[in-house]
Amino acid sequence: MSLTNVFGVDIGGSGIKGAPVDLERGDLADERFKVLTPQPATPDAVADRVREVAEHFGWAGRPVGVTFPGVVTDGTTRTAANVDKGWIGVDAAGLLSDRIGSPVTVVNDADAAGYAEMTFGAGRGRTGTVVLLTFGTGIGSAVFTGGRLVPNTELGHLELDGHEAEKRASTKAKEDRDLSWQQWARRVGKYLAHVEMLLSPELFVIGGGVSRKAEKFLPLIEGVRAEIVPAQLQNNAGIVGAGMAAAAAAHGVAAAAVGD
Ligand code: BGC
Repeated sequence: MSLTNVFGVDIGGSGIKGAPVDLERGDLADERFKVLTPQPATPDAVADRVREVAEHFGWAGRPVGVTFPGVVTDGTTRTAANVDKGWIGVDAAGLLSDRIGSPVTVVNDADAAGYAEMTFGAGRGRTGTVVLLTFGTGIGSAVFTGGRLVPNTELGHLELDGHEAEKRASTKAKEDRDLSWQQWARRVGKYLAHVEMLLSPELFVIGGGVSRKAEKFLPLIEGVRAEIVPAQLQNNAGIVGAGMAAAAAAHGVAAAAVGD
């Protein structure tokens, strides 16, 4: 692999964080820099903040990968469940490339985390079906089989007890309703069982900030056959995965192949 350093940016509901990524170690090459997500998080306002993050590292003219919390096809953002609706139908890759002055690759946030976990973290070496789920404001999903991603699976929007699953079982739902770990784990277990019914994965990787507290809820999850493990890259998975996607685009291969 000729590229060893690329730049990764993770666009989240509260913060936009970025850092150069060391693709050999699967880690940040420098301390990450974070700015607040503008409110409303319109494409134009977010693009300015992404530029600020890249400028902090003097990064221009070289590949940048950016995560987005919605469906992304060929650089265009297609949905915006938890961000400003102005993102729907935007050529995000074009907008960000112009703003930063670098080639930009945009990928779904959970897909990016999945790339990172499959290559450097909890899914390393797993060739069967692996489902990574990120629990946060929403629920993101990344589905791999044979180490290859099926992009934009959006399993957080499956129906659970008559509601969208992410409205019932995200960490936001836990906080908003003040659910105990036990109550929340019951919902998560029911959700995982539903996904298992559809895809029969060999492994679930649980990502998002809550993966740091895995010992509080993983032992409480019942009724799921597959192995369930916490993500390993935790907060940095999105940035690392964004960097991997950018490197893959620069090499003209799928991101999963970057770690092959
Ligand atoms: C979005 C997904 C995203 C997830 C986590 C969902 O609401 O539809 O695209 O991956 O939130 O941010």
